[in-house]
Amino acid sequence: MKIAVVGTGYVGLVTGTCFSETGNQVICVDIDKNKVDKLSSGQITIYEPGLEKLFLRNQKEGRLHFTTSLEEAIKEAQIIFLALPTPPGEDGSADLKYILGVASDLGKLLKPADYKVIIDKSTVPVGTAEKVRTAILASATEDINNSFDVVSNPEFLREGVAVDDFMKPDRVVIGTESEKAKKLMSDLYVPFVRQGNPIIFMDEKSAELTKYAANSFLAVKISFMNEIAQLCERMGADVDMVRKGIGSDERIGKRFLFPGIGYGGSCFPKDVQALAKSSSEVEYEFKILDAVMDVNEKQKLHLMPKINNYFNGDLKGKHFALWGLSFKPNTDDIREAPALYIIDELVNAGATVSAFDPEGMPNVKQLLGNKITYGEGQYDVLENADALIIATEWNEFRTPEFEKIKSSLNNQVIFDGRNLFDLQQIKQLGFHYESVGRKVVTQ
Ligand SMILES: NC(=O)c1ccc[n+]([C@@H]2O[C@H](COP(=O)([O-])OP(=O)(O)OC[C@H]3O[C@@H](n4cnc5c(N)ncnc54)[C@H](O)[C@@H]3O)[C@@H](O)[C@H]2O)c1
Repeated sequence: MKIAVVGTGYVGLVTGTCFSETGNQVICVDIDKNKVDKLSSGQITIYEPGLEKLFLRNQKEGRLHFTTSLEEAIKEAQIIFLALPTPPGEDGSADLKYILGVASDLGKLLKPADYKVIIDKSTVPVGTAEKVRTAILASATEDINNSFDVVSNPEFLREGVAVDDFMKPDRVVIGTESEKAKKLMSDLYVPFVRQGNPIIFMDEKSAELTKYAANSFLAVKISFMNEIAQLCERMGADVDMVRKGIGSDERIGKRFLFPGIGYGGSCFPKDVQALAKSSSEVEYEFKILDAVMDVNEKQKLHLMPKINNYFNGDLKGKHFALWGLSFKPNTDDIREAPALYIIDELVNAGATVSAFDPEGMPNVKQLLGNKITYGEGQYDVLENADALIIATEWNEFRTPEFEKIKSSLNNQVIFDGRNLFDLQQIKQLGFHYESVGRKVVTQ
């Protein structure tokens, strides 16, 4: 099949690459010329495990192309994916200006005799497919009423394992009532569900809501566990034990029960906020979502009172080593990363920070410049630091060389926002160690 993907970010690039991997001809289009130039010359623009290999192979075999021209991209495509940003607007609702802008451009380009399916892959509020359809028709210069369908096909990939998630999705959700579009979408996705995972067809609105419901539910789970962790700290319980105790109940499940310093990234924060806003627009107060957002805001700074307390409220002139900048491991995405909030707090209190992250540093350098310093490796940043703070659970931080940490730090103190270390072991090693929802280990 011939496919166009509009928007070549985390979702668009994975979508385009994975569809080319199953033999389709794919053209990805982006307004960012610099990005398109890099991609066209074989340079990948995001860090996503396993993506580069597929990207290079399909590009070499002539199935994956990049352009800045929407007209060129959609000319021969039967299927047009919109993988555009839907950032929060000022009121928290999803800003549809990118989606509707492209929809309006498409209206001018679509031809009556040339049926195409336009697919919202971006996370968009209920009713967006209808808005896209209206925007396309509003700018059309010919009668294209019967020559296109707009389908909702939300994306559930997780950054860090996006290729696997895309190639073997738990489910594919397709929102459309058009039989023609259903057939095309089904043919397109069949190679991805060979193990029997379902393609679930539904109406557009239900598909749009499914994506928000999924992300919001996961955010609820995270904030719930973070509140249990708060109780553990106050009551002297151990959140690891409670997690195991409840996670073995099949109704609850083991996943997404790890407490930490809150969720970040480009999806959960904006999607929970957007669903809360959509709810209020239909005069429904979705109370759990307000609580989830409130808990998460506080949780991002959960380590700060511990740090302040340890240093008697005076962080001026203190120097901190920070491991982890990306919002989660295995991605270079730093959007809404808790580490950024911690950096702000520390710097505002007069402290200095030296950070290391395996993939996130270039993006942080662009954002923060020399507000902090950066290390070549995880141990470089420890020199002369008064404490180590861990903000992201990258695998390489899990079993570090503790002796090296000890000999480099001024004080043997670790504040761990991701509960990486065993309390017994860390006690034997002689660290002062504070984590989330577990007992404080003192020297
Ligand atoms: N990142 C994720 O893990 C994830 C997962 C599922 C769903 N989503 C949703 O997918 C959508 C895209 O997310 P993302 O993380 O890929 O965003 P992104 O910011 O990484 O990428 C968006 C791309 O669109 C391009 N763009 C903007 N305007 C354009 C235009 N007019 N024409 C062509 N290209 C244009 C930008 O230059 C950018 O490259 C969002 O709605 C997001 O909520 C994201």
